[in-house]
Amino acid sequence: MTDPVDRLLDAAESGKSLIKNRDILQTTYVPATIQHRDEEAKIVAQSLLPILKQSRPSNLLVYGKPGTGKTLVVKKVLSKIQERVKKSNFPIKLVYSNSIEETSLSGFLVSLGRQLGLTAKELPITGLALDEVFKRVLNKIDEGKLNTIFVIDEIDNLADLVAKSGKDVLYQLTRANERLKQGSITLVGISNTLTFKEKLDPRVISSLGEEEVVFTNYNPNQIKKILEERINEAFIDNSVEEGALNLCAAKAASVSGDARRAIALLRVAGEIAERQQSDKVKPKHVEEAAKKIEEDKEDTTLKSYTLHERLVMVAIMKANGSSTGEIYSTYKNLCKITRQEELTNRRITQMLSEIELDGLITGKIIRQGIHGRTKKHTLGTSITPKKIKKIYEKDLILQDIL
Ligand SMILES: Nc1ncnc2c1ncn2[C@@H]1O[C@H](COP(=O)(O)OP(=O)(O)OP(=O)(O)O)[C@@H](O)[C@H]1O
Ligand SMILES: [Mg+2]
Repeated sequence: MTDPVDRLLDAAESGKSLIKNRDILQTTYVPATIQHRDEEAKIVAQSLLPILKQSRPSNLLVYGKPGTGKTLVVKKVLSKIQERVKKSNFPIKLVYSNSIEETSLSGFLVSLGRQLGLTAKELPITGLALDEVFKRVLNKIDEGKLNTIFVIDEIDNLADLVAKSGKDVLYQLTRANERLKQGSITLVGISNTLTFKEKLDPRVISSLGEEEVVFTNYNPNQIKKILEERINEAFIDNSVEEGALNLCAAKAASVSGDARRAIALLRVAGEIAERQQSDKVKPKHVEEAAKKIEEDKEDTTLKSYTLHERLVMVAIMKANGSSTGEIYSTYKNLCKITRQEELTNRRITQMLSEIELDGLITGKIIRQGIHGRTKKHTLGTSITPKKIKKIYEKDLILQDIL
């Protein structure tokens, strides 16, 4: 029996890995064909067509759950329009921004301005009031008589920024055409939360949603086809068992119809199979991959928590199965030990709901006769005290209470 490390290195050297092109399994990879989305692509293209005749298209709102191909389809339509525009001399500008990458409203507007060609000198990142940034962007459009399409991907984040700052940039954008003497702005918003509309001013919604297109979840068969194509390109021949493929598709479809999740599952399963030096990806590798992805997600969430969220997690760990009131007392006690100023009961109750939404704890309403109801909280099944300790042990403030 050779040494396992040697076997791994041998396999890598002789090129006996199962995955021949890893890039194709990354979420940033743009597939050559987009399956099952012809109708949606047509609606998006149709809606934006007027720009080729130099008139202003209607605003468009694109909806659908995560991983349903929204970004992929919209980007593809944009690039096709861009190709046509290149050949002509139309003053058309297509601008794409993902608001998840922006931490401030002015950052968001500056990124739009940059893509319109404003230099750092004409539009500095810092030092300008929001209204001034906005004005400079509009001037650029006006002066250049530019017909612009602004794609705002993950627009939910922008709505959150708006809510936090109280500056309604989205409303201003929807009204910007009234301020332009020449040129135009068309907005394409992409959202993956179906309750997104509730977050917005109804005036913004009615304007943004002049046209709408909904991307439905992929069903298991559609996901299977998407995966088959990736497998053909990314894996060596016959290295993924049919059962493993079906399981990937079924798992992704049962949760959300999310192609991104399905591709990630396939990639991790492939890596696990390689590591185990299996000659094929088998259903058991998919099972292991699903477990690993879930755990990684939980770890990331735990790590992303603020100090007080961490204190609440430790409080639940110590008082597992307790009511909100009991957890609050435990939390207050932990604050004392760690010399932190405690937050209000109301804030902690809210925090418990947020942690529950993250899936790390479950809350159960218990009726207590005439005393009314209380909520009891328990750690999620895979969130063991050991896991919490391991993730928070490097946090100097928490060390003494773990
Ligand atoms: N129809 C499809 N054919 C091939 N690959 C697809 C298809 N739909 C989605 N994918 C792949 O799945 C992943 C997610 O797609 P995309 O980024 O377009 O989702 P999205 O709807 O924008 O999700 P989110 O709301 O989370 O941003 C990408 O890697 C994409 O290449
Ligand atoms: Mg997207």
